[in-house]
Amino acid sequence: MEKDLLQQLNETTAYIKTKYNHQPFIGVVLGSGLGNFTKEMQVEHEIDYSELPHFPVSTVKGHTGKLIFGKMNDKHVIVMAGRFHFYEGYTVQQVVYPIRVMKMLGVKTVLLSNAAGGVHADFKVGDMMIISDHISMFTINPLLGKNEDELGTRFPDMSEPYSKELISKAKSIAQDLGYDIKEGVYCGVTGPTFETHAEYKLIKAMGADAVGMSTVQEVIAAVHAGMKVFAMSIITDLGIRDDDNIITHEEVLAAANEAEPKMTAIFKELIRVV
Ligand code: HPA
Repeated sequence: MEKDLLQQLNETTAYIKTKYNHQPFIGVVLGSGLGNFTKEMQVEHEIDYSELPHFPVSTVKGHTGKLIFGKMNDKHVIVMAGRFHFYEGYTVQQVVYPIRVMKMLGVKTVLLSNAAGGVHADFKVGDMMIISDHISMFTINPLLGKNEDELGTRFPDMSEPYSKELISKAKSIAQDLGYDIKEGVYCGVTGPTFETHAEYKLIKAMGADAVGMSTVQEVIAAVHAGMKVFAMSIITDLGIRDDDNIITHEEVLAAANEAEPKMTAIFKELIRVV
């Protein structure tokens, strides 16, 4: 019989502790084209996903697939360089597995980044958007199925999935650094298709400002497990355009790479003050 979730999490965590045994307080999830964050860290240890018991393995271009442990601004952090997406064929439970591992390792706060399509009329490619709220109804909820009471409650409250305190700190950090920063609602979709014109319009009409293929499931798992969350999107393409608007993965990666230093600077400062 397959081992239950808690048993698997305990085995993954125990393995990690044999390799690296500082309790990280902050977990960081890096999105497409946003992997350079780790160059700013004092890296102490790295573990390939393929080495970790019960961990899924990453397949997408631009995702390197390892857990990186170390320090940033004197705080112990654990970084997921490469995340798992539902569109790759993983189950939603696999998508959020690393978030749960972070919880088991003692992480209290999770910072997530992603590349997203802009649907707010004022957004430009390269903009940074702090996620103030999300719409996850186009994706599969990762908490479907048996609830693991030791992780969290059956019916988690979602009135403040993104910590208002962290949002406010990030805004003042961005201001101090002289960066223009947007704030808005992220709509999670499964992908892997980018949206049709009609879908972008629908997403906008629903009240979202950006759309992407990640993050919401991880945030749900983090909130379920009682962790504080902060998340930021880099706007890599514009969904709401009347021209042909062909969107490619290469263009998304290029725009994310370009905005990366600013995002890294904000995360770095945020880590100092959380
Ligand atoms: N749609 C969905 N996901 C995305 C997009 C988009 O336009 N850009 C980057 N990720």
